[in-house]
Amino acid sequence: MGEARYDTIGRTYAQFRHTEPTWHRAMGNALRGARRVLNVGAGTGNYEDLDVQVIALEPSRVMIDQRRADAAPCVQAPAEDLPFCDDAFDATMGVLTMHHWSDRPRAFAELARVATRHVYTVYETTFARDFWLLDYFPETRFDPMEVNAPTPSLLADYFDVVDVQTLWVPRACSEGFAAASWARPHDYLDPDMQQAISLLARCDPEVRARGTEQLRADLDSGAWAERYPEIATLERADFGYRLVIAERR
Ligand SMILES: C[S@@+](CC[C@H](N)C(=O)[O-])C[C@H]1O[C@@H](n2cnc3c(N)ncnc32)[C@H](O)[C@@H]1O
Repeated sequence: MGEARYDTIGRTYAQFRHTEPTWHRAMGNALRGARRVLNVGAGTGNYEDLDVQVIALEPSRVMIDQRRADAAPCVQAPAEDLPFCDDAFDATMGVLTMHHWSDRPRAFAELARVATRHVYTVYETTFARDFWLLDYFPETRFDPMEVNAPTPSLLADYFDVVDVQTLWVPRACSEGFAAASWARPHDYLDPDMQQAISLLARCDPEVRARGTEQLRADLDSGAWAERYPEIATLERADFGYRLVIAERR
């Protein structure tokens, strides 16, 4: 297996990325009725504590080494090459992993081969582009991985999409994905935290340093609070994260 991207950018993952309970509940509801579930791109195991038997699949050794003590048994492999027999699972699941897959058609064929139901957290990039953080790191709007992120409509090309649910991001979101700290702007100044957000970890170091200094200056001067007054009152926000429930055709 070649070097997995998260072997480089995943080193602070367990420190900053935690289960968001509202997302965890939505995932559990969508998987109700399944007995054996494959968690693809499972990372450190944040969403695996479900009332079903879970097997995790994760290509990065650095991520596997950070898996939680209560996490499911894990197999090291990518979504494009599943080391399981046909219909080995009732369902597959994945949280914010699909945009990292290098060969989606091949991975989708593999998912459909091993299970009928597929439950994935993805994001709509059009919404994400409105996120205030991107004003400080404008170059990330053109990051090919962001522009080509797998949306619910892309999944509809390969599966029967039976439901798409909005995954709101609560003000006190306990996760650490790109928009999780939308109401805690100082979080984004921490270099270790930036490393746990692939959008910023992949960004050119000069761009990252410039954006970080601008954000710091605007927070210190009060310019940030003046520019985004709505942040002070919102209890939750929609940054385009979606739970897609799909079935094999
Ligand atoms: C943002 S992390 C999400 C981890 C976990 N699902 C969670 O929500 O905590 C993305 C994960 O996808 C994994 N990944 C990257 N490319 C992959 C591939 N081709 N097949 C399966 N997983 C992959 C990464 O190694 C990483 O662990």
